Amino acid sequence: MRLAIIGFGFLGRNLLKAIWEKISLLRRIDKDFLVVGVANSKGYIYDRNGLNIEQLIISSDLTKHSGFRAKSAIDLIKENLCDIIVEATPTNIRDGEPGLTHIRLALSKGIHVVTSNKGPLVLAFRELMSLAEKNDCFLLYEGTVAGAIPIFSLVKECLQGDRIIRLFGILNGTTNYILSRMFFEEISFEIALKEAQEKGIAERDPSYDVDGIDAACKVVILANALMGRDVKINDVERTGIRGITQEAISLAKKANYTIKLIGTIDKRLEVSPRLVPINHPLCVHGTLNAIHIETDLAREMTLVGYGAGKETVSAILNDIITVLKKRLQATS
Ligand SMILES: NC(=O)c1ccc[n+]([C@@H]2O[C@H](COP(=O)([O-])OP(=O)(O)OC[C@H]3O[C@@H](n4cnc5c(N)ncnc54)[C@H](OP(=O)(O)O)[C@@H]3O)[C@@H](O)[C@H]2O)c1
Repeated sequence: MRLAIIGFGFLGRNLLKAIWEKISLLRRIDKDFLVVGVANSKGYIYDRNGLNIEQLIISSDLTKHSGFRAKSAIDLIKENLCDIIVEATPTNIRDGEPGLTHIRLALSKGIHVVTSNKGPLVLAFRELMSLAEKNDCFLLYEGTVAGAIPIFSLVKECLQGDRIIRLFGILNGTTNYILSRMFFEEISFEIALKEAQEKGIAERDPSYDVDGIDAACKVVILANALMGRDVKINDVERTGIRGITQEAISLAKKANYTIKLIGTIDKRLEVSPRLVPINHPLCVHGTLNAIHIETDLAREMTLVGYGAGKETVSAILNDIITVLKKRLQATS
């Protein structure tokens, strides 16, 4: 299997490191596994015999590598130079680009796709899943929701006979960090946000996180992927955390509650600040994410883990391994 990484930023580079660390595991599963291409916004490098991963880890500036082509990643995909791509370009929920074009093109050519990019899935989940099915290839997206938490794999592999009644949880680490600091340090939203920005946890323009847009994207993907829905971001009722005061948090604390930004998927689709009892398994702090699942048979369970950061590579690598194993099963 020939893999190309489209988007060689924070996750793309950490993924390549993880691939190098796990190369013998990957080659035990597929002895022909190779990383043949890496692309960023400036161009790509490609070698049909496999790129020198060690060199790429030392120097991630693609323009410095021999064979660099100042061409679009679209050309790399178009020329059928790989069997699987990891799409890790920036999330864009206005038109899904550039990821949507990369994913559509790859799937239409029968190239498997693993992605951490929410934009294309938020905008075109059903279309992309049908395209994958039509062309007999996989589209896996574990890294798009709650980072390293294997929510999709768990539900699809381990709860196959269960009916999912409800999913709810903390789906955004930045807002959880801000609310945790407000709870423990008794500081205002503004001070907690400033601190998060100084630590690089929140963006300079924090609206995507604090207004609940990021969490709403994850609600859409969870609803479409795990509850058979066909919903869009405008179907999610959304309230962010800008209106949460220290007084509200203190009052909640006195009654043994805290306030968390919760995404809910049942008949409703909602992102809003909610009171959570401090002894509830969802009550996790800092940048952690947590997802509570209610089903007819297993009843209730909670998954807790890192919602972003380099731990997300675990989810991407697992998706790659799933594709390798399933493809081998299909051909043997
Ligand atoms: N970071 C996390 O913790 C995390 C967790 C879960 C999901 N995600 C999602 O995963 C994706 C990647 O995240 P990241 O943090 O790695 O982002 P990042 O550091 O901003 O990297 C994005 C990469 O995409 C490249 N790129 C941009 N436009 C391109 C194009 N037209 N063709 C090819 N490459 C292009 C960029 O190129 P240049 O290097 O030339 O700028 C960069 O290498 C995003 O969608 C993000 O939302 C991230």
